[in-house]
Amino acid sequence: MTILSGIQPTSNIHLGNYLGAIRNWVSLSRAQNATPQNSLFCVVDLHAITVAQDPAKLRQAVLEAAAAYLACGLDPAHNSIFVQSHVSGHAELGWILGCQTPLGWLYRMTQFKDKAGKDRDNSGLGLLAYPALMAADILLYKATQVPVGEDQKQHVELTRDIAGAFNHQFGENFFPLPEPLMMGEATRVMSLRDGTKKMSKSDASDQSRLNLLDDADTIADKIKRAKTDPDALPSDAAGLANRPEARNLLTIYAAVQGKSLADVLPEVGGGQFSGFKAKLTAALVDHLPPIGQRMQQLLADKAYLQQVLTTGAANANAIAKPTLQGVMELMGLR
Ligand code: TYM
Repeated sequence: MTILSGIQPTSNIHLGNYLGAIRNWVSLSRAQNATPQNSLFCVVDLHAITVAQDPAKLRQAVLEAAAAYLACGLDPAHNSIFVQSHVSGHAELGWILGCQTPLGWLYRMTQFKDKAGKDRDNSGLGLLAYPALMAADILLYKATQVPVGEDQKQHVELTRDIAGAFNHQFGENFFPLPEPLMMGEATRVMSLRDGTKKMSKSDASDQSRLNLLDDADTIADKIKRAKTDPDALPSDAAGLANRPEARNLLTIYAAVQGKSLADVLPEVGGGQFSGFKAKLTAALVDHLPPIGQRMQQLLADKAYLQQVLTTGAANANAIAKPTLQGVMELMGLR
């Protein structure tokens, strides 16, 4: 089993990234007593540039993402933590796989449709080609498990299709078919302002999300203002139908404590939002600010962060090289 996953460095790493992804990486990695050879987590800077980025902010966001991985508990002795662009095989295999990927598959991707919108012809080629690069991220290490939030499932499924097509054409079983792993209760955390919209780094309203760097007062304020509805909280899951904000806040409350919705519904059911929000704030304040403080400490020690990323890239490169060589031989490029 080989695990790989990544996050785009676009600042504002948020609760969705934590509950949907990073926290699960940590538990998977610990559960299988991972090694840097079979557990790889990258900061996907080449994905970030599919939309315009300010260079100085991007540089800082890469370090913030790396600090978040470490602060959430990924141990560099057991995992390769690295920056995508530091391992050139990602871009090389991305191009190669892009040549094998029909445009029709890429046009179907929900995220492309959302991000490109009606202005398709003005979006960069990278925005369309992005899932081929993501396939390269995964297949370069012959990863078998890809822990992600629900929104990335479609891209991992496309990776399976790309790998299957490559195997079929060039060498049966060269690439394993990776599994998307969605873990825990919060695979899709929604905006605090609108329970029908995903919590996202790019939402213009900072009130819509809880960032890992938010302090206790900011968390309390955002939860106080979070959208609710007029009814009391339900005691069972059926009572959450058509109540997206209630579902979202309860899911966050459960997930942040490592519980399921079914565990917390009897505890809060029948109560009003005001009382529940106090409990939710307490649970979040217990959990998030210690991570944010650890991130700040790490960000103050850039030399250490750089050293972790250099070692991670060297480990990753040692795995990537033979895969790329194998691909090139099969295709007649070597
Ligand atoms: P990105 O940077 O948008 O998100 C990083 C991870 O966080 C998860 N996530 C969420 N989970 C629950 N609720 C949310 N509101 C929420 N928002 C984000 C995402 O599902 C993801 O797991 N293309 C990817 C990054 C990537 C990647 C890869 C992932 C590049 N190469 C290879 C896995 C394997 C992305 O843009 O994720």
